[in-house]
Amino acid sequence: MEIINSVKELKEKVSALRGDGKTVGLVPTMGALHAGHASLVTRSVKENDATVVSVFVNPTQFNDKKDLASYPRTLDADCALLESIGATYVFAPSVEEVYPEPDTRSFSYPPTDTVMEGAFRPGHFNGVCQIVSKLFMMVEPDRAYFGEKDFQQIAVIKAMVADYVAKDTDWAKRLEVCPCPIVREEDGLALSSRNTLLAPEERAIAPNIYKALKASVKYSKTHSVEETRQKTISDINAVEGLEVQYYDIVNALSLESVTSWDEADHVQGCITVFCGATPIRLIDNINYK
Ligand code: PAF
Repeated sequence: MEIINSVKELKEKVSALRGDGKTVGLVPTMGALHAGHASLVTRSVKENDATVVSVFVNPTQFNDKKDLASYPRTLDADCALLESIGATYVFAPSVEEVYPEPDTRSFSYPPTDTVMEGAFRPGHFNGVCQIVSKLFMMVEPDRAYFGEKDFQQIAVIKAMVADYVAKDTDWAKRLEVCPCPIVREEDGLALSSRNTLLAPEERAIAPNIYKALKASVKYSKTHSVEETRQKTISDINAVEGLEVQYYDIVNALSLESVTSWDEADHVQGCITVFCGATPIRLIDNINYK
């Protein structure tokens, strides 16, 4: 495994791979890697001849400066993990390398990027599209892997790729976006780099989020969408130290809220919860059908 810091070197390495007829998988990350990231890399290693993992805390997707400053950074441990699971290249650039000048491009794919996280974190998905499109242009991967914990992010990235396909862009036409299942702790907490920021008492209550989501699937069999939504929110808010920011039950493709269970073929519940005094913002989601 090699660690690359420059865009020029990254492009040279991937074009050499392509020249040899090799397929390339890309796993974009912001580092502080855990078993969830490892599952994406392991899948990419299985499905492609070479795997590039980017480790870059992208400043343009943080609408809160404190969140950016406190985001965990563990590059040495990340590289050790990536080497042990077979990554080919780690791309770990500086901010100046990725953004030699400010990125003024704007991306807009409503409703996918305006609802839920889009409403509560203005500019967040624009920043995600800026960095992910840059990575796609640098690596031109055959496949790119994203975790379903960020369910909305996958919908936004798919909309962005479809937009580039509509503009007849070669890298987009070749690319397959591959969603990968959420990896959870034994007690149900969805793995997240942010979990390392939880104090022990916060870590102890956090699994109640998934517990309530799972219970809500059973409840939904005999109750309406709105009753299910309200019950999930009140179950979580009943736990001292947890506070739901939003819980939306949506069409899993368009991300528009549904009002009845038969309104869409696939229905997903997407939640954001504040945990503890800091507070740490945790997201999760569950499939209803
Ligand atoms: O999901 C993440 O970790 C980030 O949003 C991503 C896709 C690596 C872009 O910075």
